[in-house]
Amino acid sequence: GKGIAVFTSGGDSQGMNAAVRAVVRTGIYLGCKVYFIREGYQGMVDGGDNIIEADWSSVSSIIHMGGTVIGSARCMDFKERWGRLKAAENLVKRGITNIVAIGGDGTLTGADTFRAEYSGLLDELLSTGRITSDEREKNKFLNVCGLVGSIDNDFCGTDMTIGTASALRRIIEALDAISSTAYSHQRTFIMEVMGRHCGYLALLSAMASEADYVFIPEDPPNPNWPEKMCKKLKQEREMGKRLNIIILAEGAVDVEGQPITAEQVKKVVVDNLQQDTRITILGHVQRGGNSVAFDRVLGSRMGAEAVMALMEAEEGATPCLISLEGNQAVRLPLMECVKQTKGVAEAMKVKDWAKAIELRGRSFMR
Ligand code: F6P
Repeated sequence: GKGIAVFTSGGDSQGMNAAVRAVVRTGIYLGCKVYFIREGYQGMVDGGDNIIEADWSSVSSIIHMGGTVIGSARCMDFKERWGRLKAAENLVKRGITNIVAIGGDGTLTGADTFRAEYSGLLDELLSTGRITSDEREKNKFLNVCGLVGSIDNDFCGTDMTIGTASALRRIIEALDAISSTAYSHQRTFIMEVMGRHCGYLALLSAMASEADYVFIPEDPPNPNWPEKMCKKLKQEREMGKRLNIIILAEGAVDVEGQPITAEQVKKVVVDNLQQDTRITILGHVQRGGNSVAFDRVLGSRMGAEAVMALMEAEEGATPCLISLEGNQAVRLPLMECVKQTKGVAEAMKVKDWAKAIELRGRSFMR
């Protein structure tokens, strides 16, 4: 059978384990030899015990766990050619000709670059005697399939990334808790949520918690936001609401592209409305803990589809991304999705907000 390796790289997310499990089990079911690569690209470079063959039971009882049981890392060595040479050597020695990369855009871009230069890497390994011509011949191509694991839902081409639903669930639990104490004390809370440069978690949690105001990076508020926000908070109180909730995406910016901070928002509330105001920065609890059913099922479906895509692909085919479109798992050209995702960042850099939202496409709410 074919050799397939699965690894997780970059920030972890809930549901990655379900995806790893599905890759292993689907691969074994289809007669492949499936390998784990531990600690992301670092394990691929280091080899040794970091690359081990998986069996059916090695992925038992992990589907519900948060994080990734095979570890993840942000790897510098893989950014260097010598690191990628070692990685290629480690794959060839084990007969691994297919990889499933689970991570964000950095991870997936790395996988694409690696595949594109693979043949050159093998030539160099052969000419320096690190692999034999037989090994070179049997492992000519590397096929790549990507799955997006991230709580941020910041990747273009897919409706939902693996982990987003669990992070949202965690945010909502926290918001419910905050709301009850805010209610008792008639307080205003500013809740800062993750998402890097993406406002999805902020926007969705604001909707689901009937928050009064939300700041997201893709749609900076008008410069008169302090006035507008205070008017809205005041109105709510006048109509009998005992609390106010403001959601702030960690990457929120103003129209000049300058960060909007929780302290800044708090000052506006306190100075203008004299409301008793507190800040909660939710942090990494959003990324940890058990996954919700949606992410377990999403990870499972995406993992299984990744293996099937690899089995059906021609040798050396361009990398594909498994995306969720409506309720369907579909295969898309990986690099086009990466390119579009990078386009969002570029649009935001030049403050073209309309373009940023447009490019977010399906990974954003309509
Ligand atoms: O991409 C996931 C994420 O949790 C972002 O929401 C956040 O900005 C970042 O990772 C935090 O990174 P780190 O875990 O390295 O602190």
